[in-house]
Amino acid sequence: MSHTLTKPGSTEVDRKPSAAALEFGQAWEYAPAPESPDHVRIDPKYGLFVGGRWVTPRSGKFFPTVSPSTEQTLAEVAEANAQDVDDAVKAAREAYDKYWSKLRGADRAKYIFRIARAIQEKARELAIVESMDGGKPIKESRDVDVPLAAAHFFYHAGWADKLDYAFQGRRVRPLGVAGQIIPWNFPLLMAAWKIAPAIACGNTVVLKPAETTPLTALLLAKIIEEAELPPGVVNIVTGAGETGAALANHPDVNKVAFTGSTDVGKRIQRAIAGSTKRLTLELGGKAANVVFADAPLDQAVEGIVNGIYFNQGHVCCAGSRLLVEESVHDIVVKKLRDRMHTLRLGDPLDKNTDVGAINSKAQLQRIRELVDAGEKEGAERFSAPCRIPDKGFWFAPTFFTGASMSSRIAREEIFGPVLTIMTFRTPDEAIEKANNTMYGLSAGIWTDKGAKIFYMATKLKAGVIWGNTYNKFDPSSPFGGYKESGFGREGGRQGLSAYVEVE
Ligand code: NAI
Ligand code: MG
Repeated sequence: MSHTLTKPGSTEVDRKPSAAALEFGQAWEYAPAPESPDHVRIDPKYGLFVGGRWVTPRSGKFFPTVSPSTEQTLAEVAEANAQDVDDAVKAAREAYDKYWSKLRGADRAKYIFRIARAIQEKARELAIVESMDGGKPIKESRDVDVPLAAAHFFYHAGWADKLDYAFQGRRVRPLGVAGQIIPWNFPLLMAAWKIAPAIACGNTVVLKPAETTPLTALLLAKIIEEAELPPGVVNIVTGAGETGAALANHPDVNKVAFTGSTDVGKRIQRAIAGSTKRLTLELGGKAANVVFADAPLDQAVEGIVNGIYFNQGHVCCAGSRLLVEESVHDIVVKKLRDRMHTLRLGDPLDKNTDVGAINSKAQLQRIRELVDAGEKEGAERFSAPCRIPDKGFWFAPTFFTGASMSSRIAREEIFGPVLTIMTFRTPDEAIEKANNTMYGLSAGIWTDKGAKIFYMATKLKAGVIWGNTYNKFDPSSPFGGYKESGFGREGGRQGLSAYVEVE
């Protein structure tokens, strides 16, 4: 579906939305098309999944997980304390020693294929629960998160019996028990990214989902139970930061894998320094999306919107800095503004929704603070004129122009639907500006010239670089960062090395 509103090659530089955009926004009101959650069963209360059983937490404590679009409590979830985490690590150790490390790769693969197929069978339910618990639009969870989660299990099931070929004739062995801590922006997908390679390589797992989005990980635990994975191979413990810290610091964990804020990543790094634990960190980002004057501008605008507004900008590799060649700045800004008039913000379960709810009140607060700072620092703000629902946490898609490179909105990760637009004149200036950040997770390049893409790609200090597209993922393609975006790769052959010892 094309939402392009200005004619290709148009040279209009007027900063107001075109009449066509306004008309489009008003004339094309879609009737609500919500996905029905009727068939979805969310239990009122969830225990911990430890040693293949659902157990009451020793802490005796539960906490609510709410829907950020309605502020209603969806379920009560167990809060694991250090003892609960210890139980889970013991279960994982026992499973590792008794069966999983001894099982042939081909047999491990059978279980992992089974999990992958079950995710496909339950795709609709998983997508609905993901959107309810985390606030992301159903078209994202249905078309991106859930299919990619299944793809990660399929892909890694395929590696399980071929590991000796992955490292050029060298033999590999698993590490032991992996403690894995994941964030709230891609709850099921991050669980898949973590669990699939770990168990394919013969490790066992204790996974802690984020406190605002535990439900799809718990549904995954049910799938794993139904797949009859040997008890203890995968354990899922819910809780907040303290639970995560207890897991990362547990002396019998051999490997820690973390995705989340740079702050917490550094804290984990300090906490386990001096131990023999292996560590991978996937942290924040402040990606540059670089648009050259010779780019197909309408496609680039679609890529910019995909890169920062879909998923509410809750994406570590979001294209949150737009670097646009000076000669096309005004036309790109105009096209973007027009496109933003047509974005639909609202009910995450509605199939027409482009922008869902902000994941939590705390996250909304962080976004507001940074946007206020942007205004105070003198940048010019534009926010799409979306109607904001009465209940829930929302932030209208926003961009800033005229921001200086040293301003907070140009440097700090906002993790919301907020774009900072800056200009450049030459490819080298674009490279210098793009690399002028403490992060280095991803980047985008938009140009008609393949040679320019290759030139830029060799100079940009970013782990993932997209050419004339944005936010495309595949399990065979390694993902990870430079600098303060972390270290280690997930996906691809490279991602396997995080979970094996190469002999
Ligand atoms: P966070 O880093 O606190 O949360 C991520 C995970 O770490 C959650 O499961 C949390 O329970 C756990 N955790 C928290 N403290 C821990 C500790 N001391 N030890 C072990 N685990 C711990 O992220 P938060 O507070 O939700 O978001 C803050 C900012 O972080 C966001 O505004 C965004 O900029 C960034 N972020 C980046 C993500 C990414 O994918 N790179 C994902 C989520 C947030
Ligand atoms: Mg929630």
